[in-house]
Amino acid sequence: MLQGRTIVLGVTGGIAAYKAIEVCRRLVDLGAHVTPVLTEAAHHMVGPTTFTALASEPVKTSLWRDSHHIPHTKMGQTADAIVVCPATARIISDLRTGRSGDLLSATLLATTAPVVMCPAMHTEMWEHPATVENLAVLAERGVVIVPPEEGRLAGGDIGKGRLAEPATIVDRVVKLFADRPLEGRRVLVTAGGTREAIDPVRYIGNRSTGKQGYAIAAKATQLGAKVTLVTTVDRPVPDGAEAVEVTSAAEMHDAVMGMAAECDLIVMAAAVADFRPIAVADGKLKKADGVPEIELEPTVDILAALGEVKRPGQVLVGFAAETSDLRVNAADKLARKGADLIVANDVSAPGVGFAHDTNAVTILGADTFVVDVPLTDKGSIADAVLSAAVDRLPATD
Ligand code: CTP
Repeated sequence: MLQGRTIVLGVTGGIAAYKAIEVCRRLVDLGAHVTPVLTEAAHHMVGPTTFTALASEPVKTSLWRDSHHIPHTKMGQTADAIVVCPATARIISDLRTGRSGDLLSATLLATTAPVVMCPAMHTEMWEHPATVENLAVLAERGVVIVPPEEGRLAGGDIGKGRLAEPATIVDRVVKLFADRPLEGRRVLVTAGGTREAIDPVRYIGNRSTGKQGYAIAAKATQLGAKVTLVTTVDRPVPDGAEAVEVTSAAEMHDAVMGMAAECDLIVMAAAVADFRPIAVADGKLKKADGVPEIELEPTVDILAALGEVKRPGQVLVGFAAETSDLRVNAADKLARKGADLIVANDVSAPGVGFAHDTNAVTILGADTFVVDVPLTDKGSIADAVLSAAVDRLPATD
């Protein structure tokens, strides 16, 4: 199942490091080429000889000692996945902040391959707000987290923080490769609300935070796609995705239309302004000059423009933010804009739409497909949207 896959197995200095030996053996048994990277601290917990005997290469630990090449960039570039098992609070924090203090943290920074983090630590450390926040940021960037279980911890304590079972970890690694229907596909996702300038300090905007678009971009990279995110917001970019920053509807239009032809799937999750001021004041509008009259003009409809130039086999997904008559309005947008799918949400419902971590949507297809996805996290909504989109992509050779 893992034949031909190169996996860097990062082992950090937690007591659960002994279980990484079992993970290593199972990965090799499934055909993977496993490169073990032990931190200095891991050497206090397990002997490198065991890993060297079981893995496909001798243990590596230092940026300086093991090779005449630059091993972290080489390993990062050639890995199909990096599995950190166990992952201490330290390595989680390092990856969140981009700190590269040793070979493993440097390798994690030098890769665009999927990363699987298997945390193991005392309950207090697992529940510390710093760890909770670090893991949330990593998950948002697309790092796969295999959560710890309840059980006996070092020193006889009992609680949450025990490393997941080796079989669970290996299953998750296998799934990385089994489940990549977007491998070789180019996906474009837009995210966030556009801002239309009134004067140098003011703009017309909306409440979109980009969370749903970023969740779709993260899932699409996990499914193997090469993802470009055209975004108006400053959030952690999912690992492996490329971000293009824009501000206004016109800028988003130019960025999107410039790359649309090369993309297999385009998801317009951005909340694009419908109107913009006709004239942008050169200087700040002064209160003393009285209440300004701001005349608006329509912006370009990017989704409709994409619908007009859509090439055969390309899948186009739009969103519909509604506050009433959800299905009727969404079906109308689907037809009017030439999309293949519309993801409609009632943004007036509790927990739905802008700024929430949750969403509830109805996905409508031009081919009469309809599915309701009840209130859930935005990652699960992303799964449902991408699954409907994948079903509509033509088969590759
Ligand atoms: N959209 C777009 N360009 C615009 C406005 C909207 O590409 N100028 C896209 C959005 O990204 C979304 C879809 O069109 O995918 C629907 O957006 P929405 O704001 O719900 O629809 P509108 O066309 O603005 O219609 P209405 O304001 O009547 O609801």
